[in-house]
Amino acid sequence: MITSYECFVPPIMGFGSSKRIGITLRAKGYKKAFVIYDKGMKDFGIADPIIENLDMANIEAVCFDGVLPDPPDEMVEAAAGIARNSGCDVIVAIGGGSSMDTAKGVNVLINNPPPIKQYFGVQKNLRPGLPMVFVPTTSGTGSETTNMCVISCVSEGKKDSVVSPVCVGTLAFLDPELTMGLPPKPTAMTGIDAFAHAVESITGAQANPLSDALARDAIRTINKWLPRAVDNGKDQVAREKMMEASFFAGMAFTNALVHLGHSIGHSIGATFHVPHGLACAFCLPEVIEYTARTESEKVVMICEAMGVTVPENATWQEIGALAKDTIRAFIKRIGLPNMEESGIPLEALLKIAPMVTADTGFALIPYRITAARVAEMFRSAYSA
Ligand SMILES: [Fe+2]
Repeated sequence: MITSYECFVPPIMGFGSSKRIGITLRAKGYKKAFVIYDKGMKDFGIADPIIENLDMANIEAVCFDGVLPDPPDEMVEAAAGIARNSGCDVIVAIGGGSSMDTAKGVNVLINNPPPIKQYFGVQKNLRPGLPMVFVPTTSGTGSETTNMCVISCVSEGKKDSVVSPVCVGTLAFLDPELTMGLPPKPTAMTGIDAFAHAVESITGAQANPLSDALARDAIRTINKWLPRAVDNGKDQVAREKMMEASFFAGMAFTNALVHLGHSIGHSIGATFHVPHGLACAFCLPEVIEYTARTESEKVVMICEAMGVTVPENATWQEIGALAKDTIRAFIKRIGLPNMEESGIPLEALLKIAPMVTADTGFALIPYRITAARVAEMFRSAYSA
């Protein structure tokens, strides 16, 4: 039983909290910020007010607006080259997981030589980088609170992660106002990512009392509020609850990590270029069903957090089936497509089952599983 756990990044939560970024960073003594975002952040009018806010506080901004989805290692290395010569004393990331992962990758390379792929895995001895400040604009990734970044290795055609204290931020501004304009589809896809973090961390091999409490709360909140945020993006309470749940789920998986659902998500995402949250959602019902073999009490917790009563004498098979049906109904309720509807060819899908069992997250699954069993999950989830 693991009893040690950690909390990382302190949040500044609430509507309009991002408007305090300039004054807050100034009070910490920062003078020049390397601001990382993608072009969409500028087009949606999110990046400029934050940069102006920094400017009003006399903090100079050096901007990198070239963030790409699933940050490629080459892009991260190019950004790091600019950052290294910029004289900046703080990094600010504005956006979803891709912006924050890019910022973390840049921070790894500020004082450690490229390429970044040499640092994939757990790194305890990297030279420290700069303080990092996160301004998430989606509710799902939880990247603002974790100690890892996911990077796409272009030459090897796969995603991998760096896990290091260098990837931990100093501060996160959790401003639900920034998520108000997110359309229903990305709201659902990012929200289900937070849900996956919660259900995988609560059933993972490193779950502990803190991560369980955070994950249970996140599951309850997401179950209630994500459908409302999808149905009406202007629902302020729903947006606030989802940002909070995403942060809680991020803290849960920082401590307890995720497992098979994310290994499947990484493999499908890297092969078929599917958005991360959707890729993780495809087989999540089957993953949690299978997990009931060894973690039936935790799967009961998931059902109960989703408002479903599990009969007292239910077998693990019955618990698993109930969880599978409940999670699949939730995924459908928020309008996410299955793999067939997403245009993924079944034959090509079945071929990547061995890639799933080779994923670095695989070691954290609380049971052993074969590539053949993963392929069975693919078949079960394909048209479901
Ligand atoms: Fe995720």
